[in-house]
Amino acid sequence: MTDVAVTDVAVAGGGLVGLAVAWRAARRGLSVTVVDDAPGAGASAAAAGMLAPVTEAGYREEPLLRLGLDSLARWPAFAAELEAAAGTPVGLRTAGTLVVGFDEDDVRELGVLHAFQRELGLAAHRLTPREARRREPALATRVRGGLLVEGDHSVDGRAVHAALLAAARAAGVVLVRDRVAGVVVDGDRATGLRLASGGAVAAGATVLALGARSGDLPGVPPLPVRPVKGQVLRLAGAAGLLEGTVRALVRGRQVYLVPYGGDRLVVGATSEDRGFDARVTAGGVHDLLHDAIDVVPEVTELELTETLARWRPGTPDNAPLLGPSSLPGLVLATGHHRNGVLLTPVTAEVTAELLATGALPAVAAPFTADRFERSPAWS
Ligand code: GLY
Repeated sequence: MTDVAVTDVAVAGGGLVGLAVAWRAARRGLSVTVVDDAPGAGASAAAAGMLAPVTEAGYREEPLLRLGLDSLARWPAFAAELEAAAGTPVGLRTAGTLVVGFDEDDVRELGVLHAFQRELGLAAHRLTPREARRREPALATRVRGGLLVEGDHSVDGRAVHAALLAAARAAGVVLVRDRVAGVVVDGDRATGLRLASGGAVAAGATVLALGARSGDLPGVPPLPVRPVKGQVLRLAGAAGLLEGTVRALVRGRQVYLVPYGGDRLVVGATSEDRGFDARVTAGGVHDLLHDAIDVVPEVTELELTETLARWRPGTPDNAPLLGPSSLPGLVLATGHHRNGVLLTPVTAEVTAELLATGALPAVAAPFTADRFERSPAWS
């Protein structure tokens, strides 16, 4: 096997998480090589960019909520530093998120959600239909009520990825455009990455940031990461249509509309357990458009510019896998499921700290992979 590089840190995966880890580690003085044959073409390409710990919070997911709030608090400084390093904007929007219910049952469901949010001490306010439309005049008159979460924001995920590529390069990160074929194991230690072309990157530490592909990579001990398919749509011509993110329950089904880039809109997303099925289906597109148009009728006039399907890296408790793994030398930064963009800053910063000092910050401690061995509920 030919070594193409010897580096302090080899990162498998050049999506948002992998690049952010690489950038932060390089800023800590480490030499870093990222391996990816198509950086940013995985889940990062599909992500709507929501920074939404409150509106994504699920029942029995309080640890994940706390991690999300921690990462959300890091976003403004992370975005400012990234924009300065890359010289390009990342589209941080701080207009908050409005959740609306389409019919009476949906509004009842919002009431249950609001009670849960209040129980957790989260800031969310009920709005009447008129108040909701005052905030978002494009809402359909049929919308029955809303919930305003002023703290849930968004960024332009693709702009963040482009900025991370530039910032990482400027910080000295080397990008190897090849497919990761596996982790090299020497004795009982990970010592780098095997490349599909036949070469390898030898490294002191190896970081697994391959998203949904992290679950069964040769050389890696089995990890409980599975692909959760999401179909999303991108539309153009939406300048001034929405103030901030609109999420909706439409006859019990969820849809979100996230404005970005001046006149663009992401509409998402399905959530399907279908393995690595990459098909965009007629039913998926139909349901997303149907629900989006029910909530914001003007969507019917927009240009549909893109449809795509990618895979969230799902885990049994919907929370990421961070920190050391059972294989010495292999560090995990994967399993971010629905919160990859939100959790990028905290993942990058705790992983860089671990790589630079050997100590995992306390905020990441609940998210090490051995939690599944400790808790019979997940086995
Ligand atoms: N964060 C939204 C989604 O995964 O669809």
